[in-house]
Amino acid sequence: MATTIEQPVKTKAEPELLGLLAEFDDPNALIEASKKVRDAGYRNWDTHTPFPLHGIDEAMGIKWTILPWIVACCGLMGGTVAISMQWYMNAYDYPFLISGKPAFSIPACIPIVFELSVLLAAFGAFFGMLGLNQLPKLYNPIFKSDAFRRATNDRFFISMVAKDAKFSEIDTGEFLKSLNPTNVEEFWSDVESPKLPRNLKLGLSIVGVLMIMGPALIAYVRSTKSNKPRIHIIQDMDFQPSLKAQNTTSVFSDGREIRPNIKGTIARGQFKDDNIPLYYGLKYLPEDQNVVPIAVQDEKKKDAKQAVEKQADAAKTPVAKPAATDAAAAEAKRLDSLPWITEFPMPVTEKMMARGKERYRIYCSACHGLGGDGDGLVTLRAMELQQGTWVKPASYHTENVRKLPIGRLYNTITNGVRKMPAYGSQIPPEDRWTIVLYLKALQKSRLIDAKTISEEEKRKLRDTK
Ligand code: HEC
Repeated sequence: MATTIEQPVKTKAEPELLGLLAEFDDPNALIEASKKVRDAGYRNWDTHTPFPLHGIDEAMGIKWTILPWIVACCGLMGGTVAISMQWYMNAYDYPFLISGKPAFSIPACIPIVFELSVLLAAFGAFFGMLGLNQLPKLYNPIFKSDAFRRATNDRFFISMVAKDAKFSEIDTGEFLKSLNPTNVEEFWSDVESPKLPRNLKLGLSIVGVLMIMGPALIAYVRSTKSNKPRIHIIQDMDFQPSLKAQNTTSVFSDGREIRPNIKGTIARGQFKDDNIPLYYGLKYLPEDQNVVPIAVQDEKKKDAKQAVEKQADAAKTPVAKPAATDAAAAEAKRLDSLPWITEFPMPVTEKMMARGKERYRIYCSACHGLGGDGDGLVTLRAMELQQGTWVKPASYHTENVRKLPIGRLYNTITNGVRKMPAYGSQIPPEDRWTIVLYLKALQKSRLIDAKTISEEEKRKLRDTK
């Protein structure tokens, strides 16, 4: 006769004691009980209350978390990454000189350093908090206790975890009872491990696949080659038959899409020759001179430049200084011989002077300085950098500039002079005249004999900045 000896087999199906739950109906009782649990030396336990309880941290002996350190480290890391990234990009990988500014400078880095430090610190705080609390946790066996539901309403709990080194079923149970709880309960592990509902799993898988599909498609398209143009879903006005400045075309024989001015024509609104003084600063357009209507000026300039180059080629000399100085001398001579006007081509008003002052400060003072001494901020900075390529702007208070007729000053603004760039494209003719007026006023202001000014006038001058 065979006997089977039943072996106590521990199967997974057997539930395990996870811990004990003590219920209190009064927050003060909970705090008192917590102090005792703390003093008894338990470590793996927690309290659950419907609202924050003052003093519970201390009663439980909770120490500072390391979260502040995590946040500080993440913040520091963000700052370091930001600085090194900007150094790498701006000073190492692709240094780019902008107006003589240093390629790498801490003040310029501050916005990004601030942003990245804050961003990473915030990530540290958020994910650190989740990690330290072992969240997200969708399920806890303690939820099976009906009594525990009132933890969000009007009951206070202490949960003791069986994993605690001091935990033993009987002693801990007795100990908890000695704390005068309204009830002590055990909570057990589940017989079957909790599973996600089937539909949820299915839904999550579908969402997951959909989420991967987009990036996967993009990665595929980016890593393969095709003769067909890419699919352009939102066309807006991306494809237009209009011609663009930098493109080529077969429509015109020179292949350029941008069209130069046509010789002998003037664009609408560009006809200036009905008021020569206003638009050119000249009494009349001299026939034999190299003054041409503005519409065809660019063409001429180009022709002249080509002629100079050709000459240089022919003489087999480098296009160096001799030719350039010759051209400069010729230009100076030409400017001297033109019939500049010496009277303003419009009535001079106080309003015009005010406007001139304003325009002057916008367009000229950066180089020429507020008083016209040639000491503008840009100039000062350029001198400080001592790069040697900066031509110092002329002072208006030299005999040479003082005796220039106003028509010629107007021309300087319009077309520039030697190293000074032209401002004709930025400043309308009327405004150019207001600037000339203000410039003349600046010059006059230096020539006044102090004795001729009344006391009152002097005081006014001292008071105004
Ligand atoms: C980018 C700097 C810069 C700005 C802005 C500038 N200038 Fe000049 N200007 C110069 C320089 C440089 C010279 C000397 C050019 C040379 O000698 O090669 C000069 C010379 C002049 C002269 C002397 C002309 C001559 O024939 O000797 C006048 C007048 C003048 N500028 C007026 C103006 C006025 C008016 C404005 C504002 C509309 C202006 N400048 C804006 C740089 C500037």
